[in-house]
Amino acid sequence: MTTYLVTGGAGFIGSNFVRHLLTSEPDCRVVNLDKLTYAGNLGNLADLAENTRYRFVEGDICDRDLLEVLFTKEQFSAVVHFAAESHVDRSIHGPAEFIQTNIIGTFALLETARKYFESGQNQNFRFLHVSTDEVYGSLGETGLFSETTPYDPHSPYSASKASSDHLVSAYFHTYGLPTLMTNCSNNYGPYQFPEKLIPLIINNALQGKELPVYGDGKNVRDWLYVVDHCQAILTVLKSGRLGETYNVGGNSEKQNIEVVHTICDILDEVASPLPDNSSRRSLIRFVTDRPGHDRRYAIDASKIKNELGWEPTVDFSGGIRETVEWYLTNPEWVEAILSGSYRDYYDKMYKDR
Ligand code: NAD
Ligand code: DAU
Repeated sequence: MTTYLVTGGAGFIGSNFVRHLLTSEPDCRVVNLDKLTYAGNLGNLADLAENTRYRFVEGDICDRDLLEVLFTKEQFSAVVHFAAESHVDRSIHGPAEFIQTNIIGTFALLETARKYFESGQNQNFRFLHVSTDEVYGSLGETGLFSETTPYDPHSPYSASKASSDHLVSAYFHTYGLPTLMTNCSNNYGPYQFPEKLIPLIINNALQGKELPVYGDGKNVRDWLYVVDHCQAILTVLKSGRLGETYNVGGNSEKQNIEVVHTICDILDEVASPLPDNSSRRSLIRFVTDRPGHDRRYAIDASKIKNELGWEPTVDFSGGIRETVEWYLTNPEWVEAILSGSYRDYYDKMYKDR
């Protein structure tokens, strides 16, 4: 039986991936190693609690002893490495955790995987590192990030992810560890923590709160529905060439203000009206910009399309509607987060903006 180690599987993309994997491969087992930071939420996988092919382990990827015990016991066929500190704004206010988990944690995982692979316990072992397009820096009005675009990270988050990418690449070239890497654009969909633009705007707009848009709102992101990302990762894991990087994107560039307008308009249509009957667009506030705010990201995903046949299947207009509906129909999930430490985070981040 194939046994996968998924790190960070209680987070947004990781939890979608664990579900996708168990559904796509009826014979596999999945071990989810997650530290349950503020972003990790067992509620994301509540439906799998009784699944005998799924095991959750609460733990830190920096804990080498734990990693060794897990590799020896579970004899993993592959590692899919999501665990990370993932929010740019938090990295600006407190970079230390990003260095610890994203760099030291990835190093710990690579070292354990190397020992395991070199001991010959599994010759078909694979290590897939999930990374981001932010490592490439910022684009002007034109152009796309390809796999050969030079790295130029601008935030502590993207610098820590760039560093982890280099380590993964070094382990392939130096030790022959069978690695694969994906660098993906902005994801959206169910279970995304409401510190990120799309769920933050949905939740604030539902509550009639201000909608903070950084700077002039014209920064561009390339949006990909999370399940399409999960499928891309699985495709690379199954058929990608070892040592290679594959860029993953949605062919869906949007200015932030466009995204915010779209969410407001959907909510005006499907949710209860605001008390004064005004459009939710009236809640928009342009606020102080993020320091070092990258202007535009856009992905050239032709390599994964031409080599492996992967393409996004969900377009933004359908995906954003589904996402808004998911938040509307899962108020308990949202409430559990909004009533916790998120409130302090929000006050600290937005009060004086
Ligand atoms: P997330 O913040 O929602 O989840 C991260 C998960 O990692 C959480 O469950 C958290 O508890 C866990 N974690 C954090 N530190 C840990 C540690 N030391 N040990 C074990 N677990 C730990 O993140 P996400 O948005 O799901 O992103 C997942 C991965 O995908 C990250 O590596 C991120 O860089 C990458 N990525 C994200 C996007 C995006 O748009 N969200 C796009 C491209 C790539
Ligand atoms: O590109 C991939 C990356 O996308 C991932 O690697 C990161 O983990 C993920 O967080 C995301 O990074 P961004 O910084 O692009 O995502 P965020 O949702 O934080 O912001 C999206 C855009 O919206 C960005 O231009 C900043 C802006 N923004 C964000 C927030 C939270 C606002 O205007 N207002 C906000 O309140």
